[in-house]
Amino acid sequence: MIKYESDILVIGSGIAGMSAAHYAAENGFSVNIITKGDIVKDSNTYYAQGGIIYRGEKDSPDSLIKDIISAGAHLSLPENVRILATEGVFYIQDLLIGKAKINFTKDEGGQFDLTEEAAHSVRRIIHSNDSTGKAIANGLYRLIKKNKMITFFDHHLGIDLIINHVHSRDKLSIYDPPEVQGAFVLDTREKEIKIFTAKAVILASGGLGQIYKYTTNPLSATGDGFAMAERAGAQIINMEYTQFHPTALYIKKPNMFLISEALRGEGAQLKTIDNKDFMKKYHPGKSLAPRDVVARAIQEEMLKNQHPYVHLDIHSYLPSKIIKKKFPTIYKTCLENKINITKEPIPVVPAFHYICGGVKVDKWGRSGIRRLFSAGEASCTGIHGANRLASTSLLESLVWGGRIIKYISENTSKYKLNRNYKIKPIKISSHQFQVIDPACIKQDWSNLQNIMWNYVGLTRSKKRLTRALNNLKSLSNMIFEFYQKRKYNIEVIELKNAVQTAIIITRSALKNRRSNGTHYRID
Ligand code: SIN
Repeated sequence: MIKYESDILVIGSGIAGMSAAHYAAENGFSVNIITKGDIVKDSNTYYAQGGIIYRGEKDSPDSLIKDIISAGAHLSLPENVRILATEGVFYIQDLLIGKAKINFTKDEGGQFDLTEEAAHSVRRIIHSNDSTGKAIANGLYRLIKKNKMITFFDHHLGIDLIINHVHSRDKLSIYDPPEVQGAFVLDTREKEIKIFTAKAVILASGGLGQIYKYTTNPLSATGDGFAMAERAGAQIINMEYTQFHPTALYIKKPNMFLISEALRGEGAQLKTIDNKDFMKKYHPGKSLAPRDVVARAIQEEMLKNQHPYVHLDIHSYLPSKIIKKKFPTIYKTCLENKINITKEPIPVVPAFHYICGGVKVDKWGRSGIRRLFSAGEASCTGIHGANRLASTSLLESLVWGGRIIKYISENTSKYKLNRNYKIKPIKISSHQFQVIDPACIKQDWSNLQNIMWNYVGLTRSKKRLTRALNNLKSLSNMIFEFYQKRKYNIEVIELKNAVQTAIIITRSALKNRRSNGTHYRID
């Protein structure tokens, strides 16, 4: 097996991975960064529309802290929320504006154009029109791609974290505290398994939206990081807090196009197909009520009226010129789907959007496993509590990407490669990469996504969750046996990770009998 070594191994190339890689290189560390698809496009970061929290007029860290904790249904960890609220501006100025020169939209007076989203008490979100994530992903990659300290490995999928008590040849290492040494990685183009070792590993592998039938996440979001972390023995928490975005474009595609909350921030209103303004019945914040409330209200109206979607009306509230200027990507994408948003309402439905839980980490991004850090959607700093405040996720990824490197550079003596660690290689044979019948893979995904959408979705009960868990366990056993001879095929690895992640979510949801934020029990 080919071996690669670096000071730091970063798994994932969204904003968390790329900012960590940048700060690592700036501090003199060599970095290998692996990503299973395209470096820039295959991450949730790339698809973020609305923006990133900066600071508004008459804003303060205390006011942001209050908004995050209240959106998070009072389950957010105050210490980490305060870190985000006080350090966020520094990281945006230093990395995104200063070094990566990201072109955030300005108003006519040359100031940042601040937008509003649900549950924010002031306008404090900066954006790059309606494709903020794309601007950030491109900007960060432009900045770091020529850095000699950083090596990119695209189309490289993490198979497993290398952990002493599982992968060391030294039998007695089971008595040592768990410690990560790197990762087994599949080069999906060359169909080859490689070993990456490092002094520290940063798991920034993003989200899991593809386990649900409807999601705003790209096809790459299959929950690989959560499954890998669980197999390595990391603690994973708050996985029942699955955030559904209220407004995804109603089109039949595996990853649905997001209709940013920023439209509602600019006045767009939700209405039934027969033009009834229903949100006032559900919450005083109406269309800008917290996300979970809006998503459930939409679902209820759809069920009650037997409608396949609801309408989001922007054309009655904003002049056509402004709509096109502020939301060029949404305007263009809807037009490609034969909807002119300057003249007619947009058909929308809720879709899975973001997981608030993840690998439990502390204020420096440290997991419970030595030398394993995590940042971004894969991690849980506790900031999002039971429901994430809009536009906090890019900021959390950026700040924790930076803080992990700050911690490592201030504690270099703790981060040494363990040269006594002899890794047991994975046994492979060439047939393990052979092509798999796509009909089987497709059907397994469809089973998984339906179970999750129907039983572990917007509303939950003991009966639904128990049924989901039983179905998922038998799906998992079947997959394990059926694909045993092809287990290092990318399709199989992703599918297994997805089912394992779905089981983690379902177990957490079953255990937590109290409705809170995005976890809504109807029993
Ligand atoms: C949106 O643009 O509505 C998404 C923002 C977010 O999820 O933070």
